[in-house]
Amino acid sequence: MIDLSASASTHRIDRRVYGQFAEHLGRCIYEGVWVGADSGIPNKNGIRTDVVDALRHIKVPLVRWPGGCFADEYHWLKGVGDERQPMVNTHWGGVVESNEFGTHEYFELLDQLDAEAYINGNVGSGTVAEMQDWVEYMTLDHTAPMAELRKRHGREQPFKLEFFGVGNESWGCGGNMLPLHYANQYRQFQTYVRNYGDNRISKIACGANSDDYEWTEVLMARAAGHMDGLSLHYYTLPTGDWDAKGSATDFDEHGWYETIRQTRRMDELLTRHSAIMDTYDPAKRVSLIVDEWGTWYDVEQGTNPGFLYQQSTMRDALVAALNLNIFHRHGARVRMANIAQMVNVLQAMLLTDGSRMVKTPTYHVFDLYSDHQDADFVGLPGGGAGAFDSHGDVTVSRKDGALTISTANWHLERGIDAAFDLPANVTEVLRAEVLTSAAPTVHNTFDAPDAVRPVELPVRIDGRTLRFELPPRSVATVRVGQR
Ligand code: AHR
Repeated sequence: MIDLSASASTHRIDRRVYGQFAEHLGRCIYEGVWVGADSGIPNKNGIRTDVVDALRHIKVPLVRWPGGCFADEYHWLKGVGDERQPMVNTHWGGVVESNEFGTHEYFELLDQLDAEAYINGNVGSGTVAEMQDWVEYMTLDHTAPMAELRKRHGREQPFKLEFFGVGNESWGCGGNMLPLHYANQYRQFQTYVRNYGDNRISKIACGANSDDYEWTEVLMARAAGHMDGLSLHYYTLPTGDWDAKGSATDFDEHGWYETIRQTRRMDELLTRHSAIMDTYDPAKRVSLIVDEWGTWYDVEQGTNPGFLYQQSTMRDALVAALNLNIFHRHGARVRMANIAQMVNVLQAMLLTDGSRMVKTPTYHVFDLYSDHQDADFVGLPGGGAGAFDSHGDVTVSRKDGALTISTANWHLERGIDAAFDLPANVTEVLRAEVLTSAAPTVHNTFDAPDAVRPVELPVRIDGRTLRFELPPRSVATVRVGQR
């Protein structure tokens, strides 16, 4: 029995940990989001309607764009106005990038999603002036060259820009810099990322690659006062080996449990990076922002290796749930996370094939978890997961007078009898759903789009006690109203 009767809330779960990442990579932007106004695929102003409808349903709070590695070779001026200038996407498949989807199209997507902006600027191959001009172009509201240019391109009012990243993976594809060099670059570039009118930008510095604690140390020591957030990138590879990552759908018991083990490392990474941040910023003013996370497998056979297209099974659903649980627990410092990536790339929410679209098991977890957004986190006794410890995990939050309990059981064969002692009597069950699959490798295809989807979960209530049974390899949410 997990005793929640005296549990108190310690922090708010920022809805932004449910953020998405959408890069000019493979078929994420082109086809996945953008089809153009003349397309036969139903769209509004060039953006596909089925994708927007699905993403609105899971309440996407913000979208990070345009990369990723692409961000450090992106020159924004080529992607505005009537004369778009193509370029080569050297990182991702060497294909020609038409620049049809640029700043205005990105903000159109955000309007349709009702989501916030997180733009990643170019430090690796860009200039301070180019970055400054872009921020002016987007947010200046008076007679000035960049604002005039925006108006000539059809947008009178400034855009609202909430978050701006200064470089991406500057230790790798974003310029191969050493930490002190980047800290200096960051300090210089961010000086010109200014607030105009009433627009307020949160500035995000490029943070560490997984367990590179030295990077965090140097950035916090040398630049913390100039940043609102510091990022972290950590991907889950079943093998931990970048040269042989393993298949998304063809795996055995070892591949299943190794993936779970690798993904649970996120907890240790957040603990140790946070501890360093705490020494320089005990008030937790600077957020830790996991702006790239998720599974990374070998690409689907027959697809362009530079497009990072992969399928998604119940294993990915568990990865999603376990990471979201970890973000909830670290919510006092972790205030944003962006899963990689939104459509057709890595651990995607949605996959498309021309006009067809399918929701992945990961999408369904984001749906099951949507009530945790901006809810008060409820700590468990002792901070642990009680009866769930050996092969399960649980997260609890409170919002609008209701309690939301989400559980993940990663055992391949064993179920879990879940029992919770609640702080007040249950008045009604608002939601009780479970996601599982007939076999670990089952996935949703364009011909069988509902092979993995949530179904109703039977629950038993006796006064203040709530009980339900979790099948093996499952993710569930129970939301109850209380008196
Ligand atoms: O998400 C794919 C790539 O992974 C991003 O472009 C890069 O930042 C990271 O290495």
